[in-house]
Amino acid sequence: MTGPRTVTPLAKPELPALAALLAMEGLPNQDIADAGRRFWRVDDPDGLLGYGGLEVYERDGLLRSVVVLPERRRRGNGHAVVDAISREAVALGLERLWLLTIGAAGFFERIGFGRAERSEAPPDVRASAQFAGLCPGSAVCLRRDLASPVVETAARDAATAIPSEIAPVR
Ligand SMILES: CC(C)(COP(=O)(O)OP(=O)(O)OC[C@H]1O[C@@H](n2cnc3c(N)ncnc32)[C@H](O)[C@@H]1OP(=O)(O)O)[C@@H](O)C(=O)NCCC(=O)NCCS
Repeated sequence: MTGPRTVTPLAKPELPALAALLAMEGLPNQDIADAGRRFWRVDDPDGLLGYGGLEVYERDGLLRSVVVLPERRRRGNGHAVVDAISREAVALGLERLWLLTIGAAGFFERIGFGRAERSEAPPDVRASAQFAGLCPGSAVCLRRDLASPVVETAARDAATAIPSEIAPVR
């Protein structure tokens, strides 16, 4: 598919579908309706590609719940979802993204994240539910600074550009 992708704040009625997909992947999902979480869906003309989310802690963001539908993986869609959420993070004034992952460190490292120690994350990120308990201690911690331009999947192919003007959920 080469049509345009769109990124849209996730509406409340869509949270159960996200929770089900996260549960299927063994990712934390019990807290997605809690305050302070924001989620987006990314679509192309064939429909839903996947989701991603953010928790905002001043200038730091916890990137979470990045998931692509199984049948739509390995075609650049995961990269596109992370780019889209990173653009939302920049729009929210964030300077860094943090995340924990058990099985996808290689994916995030390929698209510009670097390994970090959990202890390098600011206290409120470390106090988040994911750091404090939902993700096991064996998860890999990764970080990306947002000061430099986000790695642009869209720049490779203007036909797949994700409109960035859509406002995130408050
Ligand atoms: C991880 C995930 C989002 C990747 O989605 P995707 O659409 O397959 O990713 P892309 O096609 O954009 O891949 C981008 C690059 O990462 C590589 N890659 C994809 N998944 C990978 C993995 N699990 N490990 C290592 N590299 C991976 C791709 O080969 C590609 O590299 P290339 O550009 O050199 O070809 C998807 O597999 C997924 O939803 N997994 C389950 C949920 C999950 O684990 N999310 C992360 C939780 S924090």
